[in-house]
Amino acid sequence: MLLVLNGPNLNRLGRREPGVYGSQTLEDLERQCEAWGAELGESVTCRQSNYEGQLIDWIHEAEEQGYDGIVLNPGALTHSSYALRDAIASQPLPVVEVHISNVDAREAFRHVSLTAPVCRGKISGLGFLGYRLAMEALTESAS
Ligand code: DQA
Repeated sequence: MLLVLNGPNLNRLGRREPGVYGSQTLEDLERQCEAWGAELGESVTCRQSNYEGQLIDWIHEAEEQGYDGIVLNPGALTHSSYALRDAIASQPLPVVEVHISNVDAREAFRHVSLTAPVCRGKISGLGFLGYRLAMEALTESAS
């Protein structure tokens, strides 16, 4: 059972900088993740929040709720949030960080991830496919 978390501004997918993030919406992404989960034999819950504390609470609760791993796109909190990093480190589930865009090819502030060092791995620049690859990695590590 996998949890897919999207952070700030990802509810704007489809309207937000389509040249960078594409024209598909968050709803498209979440339906796609559920379909990929079905192919992988994993049930998937997708959630999005613009609030750091909400994401932290979801990460804290995930193990108790029976999830086996978390796919996390922290949005800009990647580059700014020590609290999100500590939340990931505070719990035992594997977390794979995903970015739709290639953060290393963008502004310098996006080259630093505070969260990646406490994640199992990081996928960046492959669009929505990154979520599928993260789900595959978590499915492998759970079995
Ligand atoms: C992002 C990259 C971040 O730098 C940015 O702040 C986002 C989206 C991505 O998916 O490419 O909000 O995480």
